[in-house]
Amino acid sequence: MNLFKQTQLKKTKKITFFDAFSGIGCFRLAAESLGIKCVGFSEIDKNAIKTYCLNFDCKNNIGDITKADTEDICNHDIFVGGFPCQPFSIAGKRLGFADTRGTLYYQILRICKEKKPKAIILENVEGLVTHDGGNTFRTILMTFGGHCNGQKRLCNPYKDAIPYNIYFKSVKSTDWGVPQTRKRVFIIGIRNDIKKIYRFPFRNNDKTPIFNDIKEYKKTYKIVEQKWIDGRIRNSIKYKRAKRTIFKDIMPFPTIMASDSVSDYAVYDNDIKKYRRPTIIEFKRAQGLPDNFKFNVTPNQFIGQIGNGVTVNVAREIFRSVIDVIKNGQDN
Ligand SMILES: C[S@@+](CC[C@H](N)C(=O)[O-])C[C@H]1O[C@@H](n2cnc3c(N)ncnc32)[C@H](O)[C@@H]1O
Repeated sequence: MNLFKQTQLKKTKKITFFDAFSGIGCFRLAAESLGIKCVGFSEIDKNAIKTYCLNFDCKNNIGDITKADTEDICNHDIFVGGFPCQPFSIAGKRLGFADTRGTLYYQILRICKEKKPKAIILENVEGLVTHDGGNTFRTILMTFGGHCNGQKRLCNPYKDAIPYNIYFKSVKSTDWGVPQTRKRVFIIGIRNDIKKIYRFPFRNNDKTPIFNDIKEYKKTYKIVEQKWIDGRIRNSIKYKRAKRTIFKDIMPFPTIMASDSVSDYAVYDNDIKKYRRPTIIEFKRAQGLPDNFKFNVTPNQFIGQIGNGVTVNVAREIFRSVIDVIKNGQDN
């Protein structure tokens, strides 16, 4: 299985995107593999910027999105953002955009209202849908004026909603050839002059990928002692700390989190019949990053950056499906 096949879409050269909340650039990797051009990005974390700039052309970081003037953002076809989820405390009170003001989500609305990209791709944790009893997600749905998942609305949009049809779905990385149990919700907005129904891509593999598919074969590994494993299991029972960081090579990688470090993980490697730490390359592969993706922060910081990111293969398929709609759904 080749996880990193660079598939070029025909005639996509002129499509552009803006990389909001860019992190280390997982969306950008996916976009560039399809020939989509990045017109700029926004990121404030100095370590994330360090990694981003090692791997991509670093011009046009508008920095803190809350302070950005929309005039400083070049026009683009697709606005992309894996936005940090802050609580929408007054959600659902039907105050229009005021419901989201003060949140980073509001910045997305502010920019898209002015720049009018053809499509918007947002990504977040699955828990966004149920957060605050569903109020947060309901508020997001109400900020999009068009239909919802191609059907009748679940809730009426705000008067000042952006003129986009909205689609959302929870997507698993394992459905796209990447052995990580990660599930993320994608919210797609398609400007409502584009007369084509958006469809999420269907999974492309019948078999669930496992750690063995991305194993890095080395002479030596960092072995984990049995007493660490036992302690981990005890703690996970006592403190409900996820047992998930201990897994077997015949399973997918557990979901990598922003708060994680290398020493949180142990994989049972059946080739050596021992528990060991996954290698950095295996962490990269578990998120669809190429082996040669560079970083100059500490390994633990880098694992956190990977955990903050989006699985590249998933992002690529989402881009591909969005391009299909914006290329075929508009006459001009
Ligand atoms: C969930 S991460 C997105 C990661 C990204 N999708 C990737 O694949 O690496 C959210 C990012 O938003 C950044 N961020 C938070 N507040 C911001 C702000 N006011 N302006 C710009 N970026 C911000 C954080 O530093 C973090 O890297």
